[in-house]
Amino acid sequence: MGPPGKSQSEPRLIDLHPPRADMRADVLEGLSRPQKQLSPKYFYDERGSRLFEDITRLPEYYLTRTETGIMQAHLPEMAEWIGPHAAVIEFGSGTGEKIRRLLQHLESPVASVTVEISRNHLLASADRLAAQHPELDVIAVCADFTQPFELPSIPRATRNLVFFPGSTIGNFAPGAALGLLKVMRQVAGDKGSLLIGADLVKDKAILEAAYNDSQGVTAAFNLNLLRRINKELGADFKIDAFRHCAEYNEDERRIEMYLVSQSVQSVNIDGTSFAFSEGDRILTEYSHKYELEPFAEMSASAGFKVQQVWTDPQRLFSVQYLQAV
Ligand code: AVJ
Repeated sequence: MGPPGKSQSEPRLIDLHPPRADMRADVLEGLSRPQKQLSPKYFYDERGSRLFEDITRLPEYYLTRTETGIMQAHLPEMAEWIGPHAAVIEFGSGTGEKIRRLLQHLESPVASVTVEISRNHLLASADRLAAQHPELDVIAVCADFTQPFELPSIPRATRNLVFFPGSTIGNFAPGAALGLLKVMRQVAGDKGSLLIGADLVKDKAILEAAYNDSQGVTAAFNLNLLRRINKELGADFKIDAFRHCAEYNEDERRIEMYLVSQSVQSVNIDGTSFAFSEGDRILTEYSHKYELEPFAEMSASAGFKVQQVWTDPQRLFSVQYLQAV
């Protein structure tokens, strides 16, 4: 054992075993609704995660590169808001690239907690974090953060920063988004804060181009959901019999993605048959876009006060620092 506080500790994995059975039940339930739907959280199997990576590099998909630019430009200032000795808790950490960049700018952070449903991503990112920050308590929680889950107590933490980049909040309808912010408020605690990325309302043409890219990567990403359901649940979707559709709903301020049936057909999953007429649509994703004022109001309802908003020169995207109140 090294001297106290100096030893490089192993990352701690807390596996809450998000069960595959949930996906089966979710899919069957979602396809039984009057408006058939599938949850966007199931996009991210291995192929889906790769396709999403490709999306982030598309010329039309401004979100990722704009957020990265905002972070790069303002990380020192963000670190000042956050202060020393923070525990950073990221919801849906993926490969962990964003939390690593954030931690590099913080003063003496004490812990990182990454909550991620993909076990492979989680383990790889925990190892990299531990290697980069020997002083850090690295805690990796394998869980589905959209379901109730228990966070471990974080030793040594003086304040908690919840980190939720990428405009993932946009996937949630208003009620669910508020619910999630409330969970984050609880995790942050009374002295805690939240650093969150939120995409902004803008011209319909820019939004629809971002979700209907000319190379068809978003279409492949959307359709991959059916491939995954075929593979993992033994369904018999004919992939070619559906097409990708993404449209901006101006009243609701959101992109809505669908898979549209190209013919009359039926699909079998687990002995249950689902009927489609031509033009029937499966809702696969909402991507909400925010105005600053309504976002601040929703945050206030969750117990957060917006302290600082950073945007890019074109005001495409926002990164916001919120303090628990
Ligand atoms: C990862 C939820 C932020 O809503 O823009 C990208 C996912 N869907 N292209 C988004 C996505 C289609 C993305 N988020």
